[in-house]
Order: sequence, then structure tokens, then C-alpha cells
Amino acid sequence: MTEAPNPVTMNQDPTAGLEGVVAAVTRLSNVDGQNGILILKGEKIEDLAGKIPFEDAVGHLWQDLNLTGVSSISTGFADARMAAFDVVPLLERAPAALSVYELMQLGLTALPGHAELPEAIAICGSLPVFLAAAHRISKNLHPIAPDPSLDTATDLLRMLTGSTPSSEEADALDRYLVTILDHGLNASTFTARVIGSTRAGLKQSVLGAMGALSGPLHGGAPGPVLDMIDAIGAPDNAASWITGALARKERLMGFGHRIYRTRDPRADVLKAGLHLLGASNPKVQLAEKIEAAALAALRRAKPDRPLDTNVEFYTAVLLDAVGIDRTLFTPLFATGRAAGWCAHVLEQQTTGKLIRPSSQYVGPMPE
Ligand code: COA
Repeated sequence: MTEAPNPVTMNQDPTAGLEGVVAAVTRLSNVDGQNGILILKGEKIEDLAGKIPFEDAVGHLWQDLNLTGVSSISTGFADARMAAFDVVPLLERAPAALSVYELMQLGLTALPGHAELPEAIAICGSLPVFLAAAHRISKNLHPIAPDPSLDTATDLLRMLTGSTPSSEEADALDRYLVTILDHGLNASTFTARVIGSTRAGLKQSVLGAMGALSGPLHGGAPGPVLDMIDAIGAPDNAASWITGALARKERLMGFGHRIYRTRDPRADVLKAGLHLLGASNPKVQLAEKIEAAALAALRRAKPDRPLDTNVEFYTAVLLDAVGIDRTLFTPLFATGRAAGWCAHVLEQQTTGKLIRPSSQYVGPMPE
């Protein structure tokens, strides 16, 4: 194995959103933004997503983290799904104003400790159950109990809809969950590591990371991507719609990235998954036209800033093609990313060091 390319020069500008600042040492994942390469524990994302199931990808990421007590990640997740279903009545009694995402956070908050399950397994295994139950509760439908004989992606779709998905649909969701499993020190992972460094525990770290993920500049983008595709409506409208949005100084959702200065490799992994589902879907063809128009317009509008397709663009199109409601895109992102967050928290805790940076004071001084 060659050494991971090490990315950055120190950026001492305190207003630069920590861009270029190295704030952790990790063996988990590396984002090479110049070359568009994402590595998870020595493997390129293209060699994991669509190649091995989500549970095995989690096992790959979690190796060396001393998670004892389960014979395999698959059985651990299945047991965790069953245990989480006991919490679902609480979600049914929650105020109707809570979103699916907030109900998932409530479920996680109420998740009891489990004698036989490591906490990371209990947390990650519970989220698909909370997501599906919260969605059904929000639609006045009864939650559906998990089936421990199924894999996470298949059971999640079944708990959402009440019917067993096709293997193509389950594979597409599984590919998505692997694709977004971990991604360097992104905002939510950094949040998880900061909370973990205070020794507040895994559950609090994941809850805080979920908060960070929910914003539109991070994991909240794919819903608006689909809104944009719907607003454009037809390939012939793409160029003028996009030019208008850029003239109004709006950001095109699904494009640009803090680290990638080229195409996000996850966009291609998801696009390949879409083609396996059958690219005859008119929305897929429309999305490809919009992508081309957006890239051309961004190149004209920002010639000095390489802005390319990010993971969220094809996340939106893939999840929509699988029949998943756009309100569930960010909840699903959290469901897959939780395993990455847990790994980072456990890794951070091995350092024993509190994360506590400094700020530059520009306020008034005492007389
Ligand atoms: N559409 C239009 N312009 C964009 C853009 C986008 N999607 N992304 C960045 N830009 C422009 C900014 O307006 C800014 O222009 P300016 O210098 O004239 O003000 C310039 O590019 C740099 O943007 P900045 O916000 O400083 O870069 P960043 O590294 O902090 O931004 C994102 C990264 C992801 C927040 C940003 O690209 C974005 O908002 N993308 C859209 C939301 C999205 O898809 N999020 C999911 C990320 S995986």
C-alpha cells in the first residue's frame, strides 16, 4: 500500500471555515480532492460500493476498533433492529409536528443500553427502524416490524413500504449506503469527533453529528436537488433556468465541494447504480441534461473555481428512482453515515485528547 497523499497546506485565516486545517489523524478514510479519489481503509469507493454489501463495508471500516460481542455485523444489525422496534411506540406518541429526522433523533435518545450489543451496533442498527417507522407515522400508517433475516437495505425498504423490494431496488439502496459510509473530516464527522473528544459518549456524538448533517450545505442538499430538477421540468429549460439562478446568485444544489476540485467520485458510483436500475427513466435523462447544462454554466460563471458534480446530485436521482420520498434523503444519509461517525468517535477517543481550538477575539476590550 502506498502512503496516503497528504492534502494540505496550513490555512491560518480564521474566517476560512477551517479549510486546509488538519484537525485529526485517521486510518478510516481519505479524500483526495485534487484527483477525485475517496479511499476507505485502503480501498477505493468504486471497489466497495456495488461490490460488497453495506454490512461488509461497515465491517471493513470498523476493523481494528475492538467491537466485541457480535458474531458478525449483519447479525448485530439485525438484533439491533429488533431491539429498536421496542422504542417505536414512543415515536407514535410524539408531537405530530416533529419531522422524520427529529423522530429519529428522539428514538436514538430513548434507545436503551443493550447488554449484548456494542453501542455502535445498537445505534447504527436502530436508525433504519426509526427512519421507516417515523415515515409511516408521519403518513398515518402503522410502523412495520423489522425482519432479522433480511439485510439492512432490503429490510429498510420493506419497513418503509410494506412490501419486499426488487433485488435491483435493494441493491441500489445498498450501493448508496456504502457510497456515503465515510468521507474524511466533513462537518458532521468533525462534530462527532469534537463531541466524542469530550467523552460525552457515542449516542450524543451521533445526535450532534445528525444536527450538523441536516443543513443544506451538507446533507440537506439532495431534497433541493430534486426540487431543482422538478422546477426545470424539461431538458430544453435547463440552460435558461440555470443561467437565471446563477444571475440571482443562487447556489446550484448538487454542485461544488469544499475538498473536491474535480468530480466527486461518489457521483459516478451512484450514476452507475442508476444505469443498473434502467436509465430509461425520463427523470434520469433529464438529470443528465441538467448536469451538463449546470457544469457548462458554472464554468462560465466561475472560471477560476472548479465546481463539479457532488454526491448529492445523483443521490437525489438514485433515491427518487428507487421510489424514496425526498423528505427521507437526509434521514437516509444519516442512516448510512452513522457507521462512519461511530468509527471516528471511537478512533478519536483512543487519543484521549479534548478538541478545543482557539478563536481570534475582535470584540471590545475593557477600558
Ligand atoms: N453553485 C453556484 N456557485 C457556487 C456553488 C454552487 N453549487 N458552490 C460554490 N459556488 C461559488 C460560491 O458562490 C463562491 O463564489 P464567490 O467566491 O463569488 O462568492 C465560490 O463558488 C466559492 O464558494 P464557497 O462557499 O466559498 O466554497 P465552499 O468550499 O465553502 O463550498 C459548498 C462548498 C458545498 C458549501 C458549496 O459548493 C455549495 O454551497 N454547494 C451547493 C450545496 C451542495 O450541493 N451541498 C452538498 C455538498 S456535498
